[in-house]
Amino acid sequence: MPDDKKIMDKIISLAKQRGFIFQSSEIYGGLKSAYDYGPLGVELKRNLMNEWWRSMVHEREDISGLDASIIMHPKVWEASGHLAGFSDPLVDCLISKERFRADKAPIPKVGDEINITCTDKGQAKEYQSAIEKRFNILLKREGKTLKGLKVIEERKVAFFEENKQTHSNIFDFPGYLSPTFNSPFLSDEKQFNLMFRSQIGSVDALGDIANYVNNNKDLDKDTLKKGIEKIVKDSAVYLRPETAQAMFVQFLNCQQSMSMKIPFGIAQMGKSFRNEITTEHYIFRSCEFEQMEMEFFIEPGTQKEWLKYWRDKRLNWWQSFSNYPENFNYRAHEKDELAHYADACYDIEYKYPWGYDELEGVASRTDYDLKKHAEHSGTKLSYFDQQKEDPETGKMGWRYTPYVIEPAAGATRGLLVYLIDAYHEETVKDAKGNDTTRVVMKLHPKLAPFKVAILPLIKKDGLPEIGRSLVKEFLKNGINVRYDEQHAIGKRYRRHDEVGTPYCLTIDGESKIDNCVTIRDRDTMKQERIPIKKAVEIVKTKLSNSNN
Ligand code: GAP
Repeated sequence: MPDDKKIMDKIISLAKQRGFIFQSSEIYGGLKSAYDYGPLGVELKRNLMNEWWRSMVHEREDISGLDASIIMHPKVWEASGHLAGFSDPLVDCLISKERFRADKAPIPKVGDEINITCTDKGQAKEYQSAIEKRFNILLKREGKTLKGLKVIEERKVAFFEENKQTHSNIFDFPGYLSPTFNSPFLSDEKQFNLMFRSQIGSVDALGDIANYVNNNKDLDKDTLKKGIEKIVKDSAVYLRPETAQAMFVQFLNCQQSMSMKIPFGIAQMGKSFRNEITTEHYIFRSCEFEQMEMEFFIEPGTQKEWLKYWRDKRLNWWQSFSNYPENFNYRAHEKDELAHYADACYDIEYKYPWGYDELEGVASRTDYDLKKHAEHSGTKLSYFDQQKEDPETGKMGWRYTPYVIEPAAGATRGLLVYLIDAYHEETVKDAKGNDTTRVVMKLHPKLAPFKVAILPLIKKDGLPEIGRSLVKEFLKNGINVRYDEQHAIGKRYRRHDEVGTPYCLTIDGESKIDNCVTIRDRDTMKQERIPIKKAVEIVKTKLSNSNN
């Protein structure tokens, strides 16, 4: 990967141009943080998710799969804590428009001076005049800092003109500041649910809401809101914010139908939805994304060893498709970082252009989820091991609530990781011997959308016919192939370098005489002559060698 801060811009542009990722609804101006996976993106995403499924389900006897509804019973989210936990009060800074969680904002002490810290002098000038216009005070500008405010009571700040001991204006503020700029000029707190809410049933709640509002015109805003909330709640359903919960809810059905013995796992991949406060870094954090999660049910007390097992297994898996395995690592969560259900957790991280950040979480979720669902549903979610002694009674046969280790990966985030990992710029000579930049996506052959491209040198003299019959052979063998006869051969090589096609087969005038084609390797650009008859076999062997 080139050491280039603009790498993301380059990848975003290539992804659009070459059919990997498009902005959703682009012709209507686009929908913020929603993306469509184009003809090549869908192949890459599927290849990645199929590899995950193969390694988690098909190559193991102790894990089986699940494909659950995206919309589940609302009580699932009550039991899991998502309905409560996902309601974070949010606040907007009236000057910078920064939106943040009120419960995480910094709290100044009475007597503290407030320095509004901007990113540069230009922004300081801009915010100074915005504050003057809106609040009629002229803060003192020192470089990128705006000064003159002081906390005089828990929820009051005052403005002191330069060199004056007494204040001229007093403002109410909520007792905290915006985290980035230190601004006390904030909106009211707004309840913001990270889960997407919808209604089930064909009767529209709008009619009931209209009647309710019409009949209760005298109620204050908060009471009215609570009343409407009650009407909506009866038919409210949620788009799942994680795939995990279905595996807890279907624990018994999966275990009994497959006669699974602990330790065993249930795996699921698919869409999840979160009304993220901040969507960032392209598809890294979006509102609609895909996850690949597995819940591994274990005996209580064995969680430490299984956590390490899955941490290492998952890290190795990500590294196995990478050109730079050293860019992946893991990081243990600090105690105060742990989610409410976890007794330990590792993040598998990748070195993105903006630094190390999360790719997958491997959490030790204790027996929290099964116990919560048992409590809320009234169904016993436990496991009976006839061969084990009950540690409390000392008798054979032990019934317990299993503990859970959860490797939870982002498939769309993984796709971004491999686009970054694959992106290479190389200096090569063009046909005239001049230096030119070759962009090549060194995608692992297992992930590459096309495995081979068939390129007749010209569109006549029987070359397309040879090409088409080769395409048929590859398709018969289940190898994703692309026939391409547009533009000069050099341009076609570049096109396939940019989409990561590992091999190109070129048919030229000689092919009719010697029954051979030229195979070109994407990474080394080396070319060799091979018999047409053996082309499929040779590509197959090369692909399986690179897969090892
Ligand atoms: N069941 C546990 C769980 O969902 P998480 O850390 O919130 O844990 C797991 O999500 C993985 O899903 C993350 O490591 C990340 O790869 C991916 N992910 C989470 N939120 C995402 C988002 N808004 N956009 C893209 N990927 C996301």
